[in-house]
Amino acid sequence: MAIRAALLVASAFAVAAGAILAARRLPAWTPTAALRASFATAAPDWLARLEQDETQQACSRYRNAPPKVVADAILAREKTRITYPADGKLMGDWKKGEALAQSGYGGRYTDVPASAPNGGNCYACHQLDPRELSYGTLGPALAGYGKIRAFAPAAVQDVYKRIYNPQAAIACANMPRFGANAFLTIDQIRDLVAYVMSPESPVNR
Ligand code: HEC
Repeated sequence: MAIRAALLVASAFAVAAGAILAARRLPAWTPTAALRASFATAAPDWLARLEQDETQQACSRYRNAPPKVVADAILAREKTRITYPADGKLMGDWKKGEALAQSGYGGRYTDVPASAPNGGNCYACHQLDPRELSYGTLGPALAGYGKIRAFAPAAVQDVYKRIYNPQAAIACANMPRFGANAFLTIDQIRDLVAYVMSPESPVNR
C-alpha cells in the first residue's frame, strides 16, 4: 500500500510539474531575452546597454568569426567612430595613464552617481608594468610594448586607435571600445597611449 501511495504522489507531482513547465514555456530563448528579464526593473539608461548595436549583433550571429565580407563591413563602420585630437598629439601624461590603467571605476551599480572619472581597467586583462604582480591574462601581455616597437610613431597611432575602438582593428575584438562608447575621453586615451608607448613609462623600463 505504501508503495502504491508513493507512486500516486510521485505521478501527481510529475503531472503538476509538466503543467507548470507548459504554462511557463517562453518564446524562443535568447541571451538578450534572458538579460532583459534579469534587469527588468533597471533604469532606462541601464536597459539601453542590453541592446546590441549592429556590430555586436553581427559578432553574436557569427560567434565572433564573421565571414570576410561581414568583417570588412564592421571594420569600415567602426573606423568612422574614431575621433582624433584636434592638436594631433596622441601621447599625454604616462603617470595619469598608469592611474587610469589601474582604475576599474565606472559603469558599476556602486558608481551611480559618479564620484570619480571612469578608469581603463587595463590591468584586468593585461600585464603592463612588469613589476606589477596583479593582472589578468584575457589580453596579451603588454610589458615593453613601446620599446619592442622602437617607439615608432605608427605604433603610437595604432595604440591610440586600439584603445579608442578595438573593433576598427579586429572585427570581433574582445577589448572594450573605450573611446567609441564614450567611456574614456580623448585626453584619458592619450594618457593611456603614453603609458603604453613612452620611453619614460615603467611599461618600457
Ligand atoms: C576586457 C579585457 C580587456 C581590457 C579591459 C583591455 N583590453 Fe586590451 N586587449 C584585450 C584583448 C583580448 C586583446 C587582443 C585582441 C582582441 O581580441 O581585442 C587586447 C589587445 C590590446 C592591444 C593590442 C596588442 C597587440 O596584439 O598588439 C593593446 C595595445 C591593448 N589591448 C591595450 C589596452 C589598454 C591600454 C587597455 C586599458 C585602457 C586595455 N587594453 C584594456 C582585452 C582587454
